[in-house]
Amino acid sequence: MEDTPRHVPVLLAEVLELLAVRPGGFHVDGTLGLGGHAEAVLERSSPDGALFAVDRDPAALAHAARRLARFGDRVALEHADFRELPELLHKRGLPPDGILLDLGVSSMQLDDPARGFSFRNDGPLDMRLDPTRGAPAAELVNRLPEQELADVIYRFGEEHASRRIARAIVARRPFHTTLALADVVRRAAGRPRRGIDNATKTFQALRIAVNEELDDLGATLHRLADCLAPGGRLAVISFHSLEDRAVKYAFRELAARGYSLLTKKPVIASEAEQRSNPRARSAKLRAVRRDPALDALGEAA
Ligand SMILES: C[S@@+](CC[C@H](N)C(=O)[O-])C[C@H]1O[C@@H](n2cnc3c(N)ncnc32)[C@H](O)[C@@H]1O
Repeated sequence: MEDTPRHVPVLLAEVLELLAVRPGGFHVDGTLGLGGHAEAVLERSSPDGALFAVDRDPAALAHAARRLARFGDRVALEHADFRELPELLHKRGLPPDGILLDLGVSSMQLDDPARGFSFRNDGPLDMRLDPTRGAPAAELVNRLPEQELADVIYRFGEEHASRRIARAIVARRPFHTTLALADVVRRAAGRPRRGIDNATKTFQALRIAVNEELDDLGATLHRLADCLAPGGRLAVISFHSLEDRAVKYAFRELAARGYSLLTKKPVIASEAEQRSNPRARSAKLRAVRRDPALDALGEAA
């Protein structure tokens, strides 16, 4: 049997409902991953709904392509960053009825030591979602001046021991592997709280910095919302407070521009889902709708 990596899609029923997926719809998945949400969208939009999806990670795309092959030409996939979606959608010429972003990393990426995200299994210090572009985490860790490294760890990890950790890293570098780095970070970070590994925040910070995950997120959400067909919906799942804050503010601004906020508060996973899928514990889902009235206003202006 083929060893298929697993990733359980979070808040699946809630996503389908907020995107109002129905037969014949055209949907876009900007973070395809292993295609769990995409597959459900295609099933719900049968028999003739279409899906266009992108991911930065060629390995994720390859797995998803196999999973979605049975949908034939209802599916189109491309290796791209979702920040490029507005241009890609413009070229396709068809405004989507729904766009989904399920931010961050998949279990497949986290669980593969060779990708360098894990502080529990040893691997090269890489952390790139797209290994074909940009510099690996080792570059940041081994080259950044101490103050800048501390700033990254504080800003993207919300880690209060950031200065102590940066000082310890600079004293012991160069680092080439995840476990060697995690060991130094843990010693510098002090006692772990509530059973959470105290390398977590620093590794999150480095991952966000390596992949520039928060760059242009708010502006991209505005541009994506503006791509929607009248009545179309944009749904975003975030996994940490920095992401969720960016989504919340962008959606508030969109509401001020005439979009309808479909989630006054973020939707979170049920207790049962949180029990069965630990990743779901930190997931927050927010959505907006482009109202037909908004386009009527635009035309009248
Ligand atoms: C949480 S997973 C998505 C899982 C997917 N919804 C599923 O059900 O299998 C996030 C995915 O988004 C991708 N990703 C993260 N940032 C991206 C970006 N800026 N552009 C495109 N893909 C991105 C990652 O490579 C990863 O595969």
